[in-house]
Amino acid sequence: MDHERAHADYYATEPKATEWLLKLEKFDGPILEPACGEGHISDVLIRGGHSVTSRDLIDRGYGEVADFLSIDNQEWNGNIVTNPPYAYAQEFVEKALSIVPDGKKVCMFLKLTFLEGKGRKHLFRTQPPSRVWVSCSRLLCAMNGKFDEISGSATAYGWFVWEKGYKGETIIKWFN
Ligand SMILES: C[S@@+](CC[C@H](N)C(=O)[O-])C[C@H]1O[C@@H](n2cnc3c(N)ncnc32)[C@H](O)[C@@H]1O
Repeated sequence: MDHERAHADYYATEPKATEWLLKLEKFDGPILEPACGEGHISDVLIRGGHSVTSRDLIDRGYGEVADFLSIDNQEWNGNIVTNPPYAYAQEFVEKALSIVPDGKKVCMFLKLTFLEGKGRKHLFRTQPPSRVWVSCSRLLCAMNGKFDEISGSATAYGWFVWEKGYKGETIIKWFN
C-alpha cells in the first residue's frame, strides 16, 4: 500500500455533508452505516434523531466490526448511508441494494466521477439512483480523519440516492 494512502481507504467525511443530507432527504426506519470509520456520518444521523447501527471492517473504536461485503451480511431492514471505501464503491452500492427492502434508501457520498465508467453502465441502467445531489461548494474528506492537516480539496463529491426498486429517470440537483 502506498504510504500516502489511508489505512483501508479511511477518509472521514466532514459532518456538514451529512447535515446537508438530512436537509435534502427524509428517512423512514433505521439506518445502517456499514463503513463508519470514527462515526463522522453516524454521529450526525444520530443527532438528527435516527436509529443508527454502525459497523466497519477496522476497529477504530466506533461501532461493531464487520465486513460489509462478506456473505454474513445478507439483510438490513432499513436504509443505508455511508461514504464507502473508494476502491469498493460499486460493490458497496450493489451490496446495499441487494440487502434492503423495496422503497428503502441507499445514500452514498461519492466522488462525482462515479457517474462515469464502463463498469458502472449496467448498474446505472438497471438500478438508477433516483437523485444525485451535487455539492456546489467542495466538501472535505480527511485522510485517516485528520481534518487539521487539510485545507481544501481537489475532489468534487455528491450524495447519490437510490430507492430500492426505482426504475425512473435520475434527477440531478445541486446543494451547498
Ligand atoms: C472513505 S472511509 C469513510 C468512513 C466513514 N463512512 C466516514 O464517512 O467518515 C471508508 C471506510 O470503509 C471501511 N471499510 C473498508 N472496507 C470495508 C468493508 N469491506 N466492510 C466494512 N467497512 C469497510 C474503512 O475501514 C473506512 O473506515
